Amino acid sequence: MEEKTHKDSKKTLGPLDEIMGKGLMEKAKYVTQISQLASKVNEKVFLRGWVYRQRRTGNLSFVVLRDGTGIVQCAINKENVSEKEWKTANDLYIESVVELIGTVVEDERAPGGFEVRVSEFNLDFKGESFPIGKDLSTEFLLDVRHLWVRSQRIIDALKVKAALIDICKTFLNERGFLEVQTPLFTSSAAEGGSTVFSVDYFGRKAYLAQTGQLYSEALISGYPLVYNFTPSFRAEPSRTPRHLTEFWQIEPEMAFYNQEMNMKLQEDLIVNYTHELAKRAPDILKRFGRDPKDMLAIDAPFERMTYGKAIEALAGKGLEIKWGDGIGLDEEKLLVADRTQPMFLINQPKEMRAFYMKLNPDDPRTVLDADVLAPEGIGEIIGGSERISDYNDLIQRMKEQNLKPEDYSWYIDLRKYGSVPHSGFGMGLERVVRWILKLDTIRDAIPFPRNITRLEP
Ligand code: 4AD
Ligand code: MG
Repeated sequence: MEEKTHKDSKKTLGPLDEIMGKGLMEKAKYVTQISQLASKVNEKVFLRGWVYRQRRTGNLSFVVLRDGTGIVQCAINKENVSEKEWKTANDLYIESVVELIGTVVEDERAPGGFEVRVSEFNLDFKGESFPIGKDLSTEFLLDVRHLWVRSQRIIDALKVKAALIDICKTFLNERGFLEVQTPLFTSSAAEGGSTVFSVDYFGRKAYLAQTGQLYSEALISGYPLVYNFTPSFRAEPSRTPRHLTEFWQIEPEMAFYNQEMNMKLQEDLIVNYTHELAKRAPDILKRFGRDPKDMLAIDAPFERMTYGKAIEALAGKGLEIKWGDGIGLDEEKLLVADRTQPMFLINQPKEMRAFYMKLNPDDPRTVLDADVLAPEGIGEIIGGSERISDYNDLIQRMKEQNLKPEDYSWYIDLRKYGSVPHSGFGMGLERVVRWILKLDTIRDAIPFPRNITRLEP
């Protein structure tokens, strides 16, 4: 098979180019990708991939081939190939690996409007009968997640997530932010002791990071605009459609930003990535039932609803709820069920918020916090606040929350030297992907989800 290396291979774009920007994957020397076939009608191509489906009618055998960039029907006519090739082509499993040379032909009957008429056919790897077929239970599909990640649905979601990360980083970088690294082994809990994972660290107790925030707060005195993009760990004991025990956050932290500037940045970021994703990946969005126009319609400013008003609104909807009660998953869902635009839920009572949040000067029962609630019943995708910059206020809030200042001595130190007003937020990537792709569960926004019952594969 000397023709393996297609003469145009250098020009061939990589599988992520359609949404990641041209040229990024150029180095991946794929010969011809299925996604490029539409522009190669009547040309000879070399394809390599996995058998997606197979059927035979008389002297014609159809192998539907998948290569990660697309799916195409390849027709093998007994008369055009050797006896050995014909035999091979009719003795395959789903997921067997094959390579072939053929000509791209327009054909209305073929799915996608064209097919490849095969002239040479080779088996690379036959393997065993594939365990994933139709109508399997969710639990079984999670058990075989290492094989299920080949599905177009999961790869599509990962492409959107990769593009989202790219867009967010570009957005922040263009505004002068510095990406920084924060540790994953930490010595104290930052977001409440009840959801922290502890690990043995050479005989000492360490905790897996729930957030990079406190470390990014240290870094803003070196450089005023930073963000960390890191895994976060939370020992969430319940299985919900929006909780993972391991998820990813992008966390900007800004010196000299008050809470209003913080919220404005979040609005700009969200408008930017919703619009950008609608432009970069309209076909994927549509495959998930998301009209790209919904995303292009996202517009700032978002409504800012105080906790007090939210309680009133929820009581108005018939909920038995009063000032001081928590706004959890169900309450959030009610608040955003009929919305198409994100909203801010601001100024929650200090007792239920993290120790580092600055008190609201207009109502010191509450703090200068804001959660972005995504519409369509999704709820929180961002948590953020203005931080306490005063030493005494910080000690006071820690004591109120029964935290030992000595456990946070390095963090408290930051309020002794060059402390400045500052704010920041953390956005959960998987929650955003769930919203944009209308996923029933957050699990489908990460290839190997972790929750209370799942550690394998
Ligand atoms: O609201 P959270 O707990 O805020 C923080 O961690 C702050 N330190 C962020 C900051 O200000 N730098 O978490 C932030 C976001 C949530 O809004 C949500 O999107 C996501 O992280 N998140 C989760 N995603 C999946 N599974 C979980 N268990 C999550 N917990 C939080
Ligand atoms: Mg939160």
